[in-house]
Amino acid sequence: MSIAYEDVKRFAVTTPIYYVNDAPHVGHAYCTLHADALARWHRLAGDEVFFLTGTDEHGLKVQQAADEKSMTPIEWADITSQRFKDAWEALEIKPDDFIRTTEPRHYQAVSKFLQAIYDNGFIELGSWEGLYCVGCEAYYTESELSDGNCPVHGTKVEVVQEENYFFKLSKFQDKLEKLYGENPNWVEPSTRRNEALSFIKSGLQDISITRTSIKWGVPVPWDTNHVFYVWYDALINYVTALGYGNDSERFNTWWPSVHHLIGKEIVRFHCVWWPAMCMAAGIDPPNHIFVHGWLLVKGEKMSKSKLNKIDPVVLAEEVGLDTLRYHLLRDTPFGPDGDFTYEGLIRRHDADLSNNLGNLLARVSTVVSNKCAGIGPKPRENSPLKKNFDEIIGRVRDAWENTAPSAGLEATFELIYLANAMLEQNEPWKMEPGVELEGILGDALEVLRLVALLIFPAIPKSAQVIWNRIGLEAEIESARLDDAAIWGLYPGSLPVTKGSPLFPRLGKNSKNSGESKK
Ligand code: ME8
Ligand code: MG
Repeated sequence: MSIAYEDVKRFAVTTPIYYVNDAPHVGHAYCTLHADALARWHRLAGDEVFFLTGTDEHGLKVQQAADEKSMTPIEWADITSQRFKDAWEALEIKPDDFIRTTEPRHYQAVSKFLQAIYDNGFIELGSWEGLYCVGCEAYYTESELSDGNCPVHGTKVEVVQEENYFFKLSKFQDKLEKLYGENPNWVEPSTRRNEALSFIKSGLQDISITRTSIKWGVPVPWDTNHVFYVWYDALINYVTALGYGNDSERFNTWWPSVHHLIGKEIVRFHCVWWPAMCMAAGIDPPNHIFVHGWLLVKGEKMSKSKLNKIDPVVLAEEVGLDTLRYHLLRDTPFGPDGDFTYEGLIRRHDADLSNNLGNLLARVSTVVSNKCAGIGPKPRENSPLKKNFDEIIGRVRDAWENTAPSAGLEATFELIYLANAMLEQNEPWKMEPGVELEGILGDALEVLRLVALLIFPAIPKSAQVIWNRIGLEAEIESARLDDAAIWGLYPGSLPVTKGSPLFPRLGKNSKNSGESKK
C-alpha cells in the first residue's frame, strides 16, 4: 500500500546523454563514473536506486559525422552508441538503463511531451536568425562570442535563418525566479546556481525549437515539415526513461527523486530551459541538478572535437581499472575544473592505493599469517580507532550524500592512515603472540572491513578482494551501511589470506616498475 511505498527513499541519478559524433573519452567517463559511484553508495545506504545514461543521436553534429564516414546517421549512431555502452561495461559502470534518443519509446515521449506544451499554449510559429555553433548545437549572441568565435570550441559560428516554432520561455521568468528563490540548493554548486539565476534575471527570450533545414530529428507531431531541434528532444530523455506518457505510476514514483549530473557548459539548457519546459508540460522540475567542471589537458577542455582526448578503456587496461576509477573520483573534486595528467594518476595510485591501503592489507595479512597461523583475531571494543571511526563515518556519509565522493574517499583514507600509524607505533611484527597482539591485529582487520565497505562504490572489485582476503564471504553489494558501518563487527576466527600485492607501485622509483601491471 502507499504508506510503505512512501517510506522507501529513492535516488535516481542521470548523466548527460552523450553525442555520438565520436567515441567516449575520459571526460565522459568522469561524469558517468560519478553517477555509478553515487548509485552504488545509495544502494549501500538502502535506497532504491535508478541510474540512467545514454546517447544523444540527433542534430547536425551527428549528421555531419555520419556524412564524413559516408554512412547514414543511424548507421553511425549504432556504431558509436555501442562504443559508449562497451566503454561503460569495461569500466564496471552499471547503469540500470541506457537510453538512445533514436528509440521508439523516446519518439513517443517527445511527441507527447511537446504536444502537451503546444496544447498548453506555450509554442508558436515565428522566424529566426542567429549565430549557430554546430559543435554546441546552440545559438549565441554577438556578445557571448570570444573573438568572434564559439566560446566553448573556439570555432567559427554560422549565420542561420529559418521559420521555426518557438517555445515561450519568456513566460517563465517569474516562475523560474520563484523556483530558485524557494529552493536554494536546487542547483549546486552555488556558483553555477548564481550563474543560471543571473541569466534568468537578465531577461529571457523565446527560443526556437524546431528546424526545417535538417531531417535528422524527431518530427513535430502537429507539423511534419519540422523536426525538433536536438536539445529539445535530448532533454526529454530523462522523462522518457522513467515512463513519461506510457507508465504513469512508474513516472510518478521516480520523477520526484531525480538528480541530474551535468557539465558546466550545459547549465543553460538544464537549469533554465528544462525546468521551464517541465512547467510548460505540466510536470514538476527535476529534484536537483549538480554541475561539475571540466577535466583539462594542459589547460584546455578534453573534447571529442579536439585532439587531446584520452580513451578511458585503454588507460584502464594500462594502469588498472580501480586505479583509474579511484583517481577520477578522488583527484578532481566534483564541481571545479581539474587538470588530468598521467603523472598525477600515478602519484595518486602510489600515495593512496599502494603506500596506504595496499600496505595496510599486506602488513596485517603477513603478521596474521606469521603469528596467528593465518586466523584473524577480533577487534577490541574499546579500541582507540573506534573513536576515530565514529567521527570519520559521519563525514564520509555527509560527503557522499552531498555529491562529494572525493571528500568521502579522503575521509575514508584518514582511517587507513591511522591504522597504519597504530601498527608503526606498536610494531606487531616484533611482538610475542598474546592478547595485546591479537587486539592490535583485530583492530587493523576491522579497519580493513570498514574501509572495504566504504570504498566499494568507488573501487568495487578491489574492495571485494580485500573483503574476501580477511575471510568475509558475502558480497559487499548486499551489505547495508546501517547494519555494517559500525565498529566491532569483524567476527574474528576467520582465515586471512596473504595474497599478492593488491596495488603494486607504478611510479618510476618503485621496485616493481616494469612488472607492475595487474
Ligand atoms: O552536451 N571534463 O553531449 P556531449 C569533464 N548531448 N566532463 C566532460 C568533459 C571534460 N573535458 N567533456 C565532456 C552534450 N564531459 C549533449 C547533452 S543532455 C540532455 C544532452 C561530460 O557529448 C560532461 O558531463 O558534449 C558534459 O556535460 C558532457 O560530457 C557533454 O557530453
Ligand atoms: Mg560537448
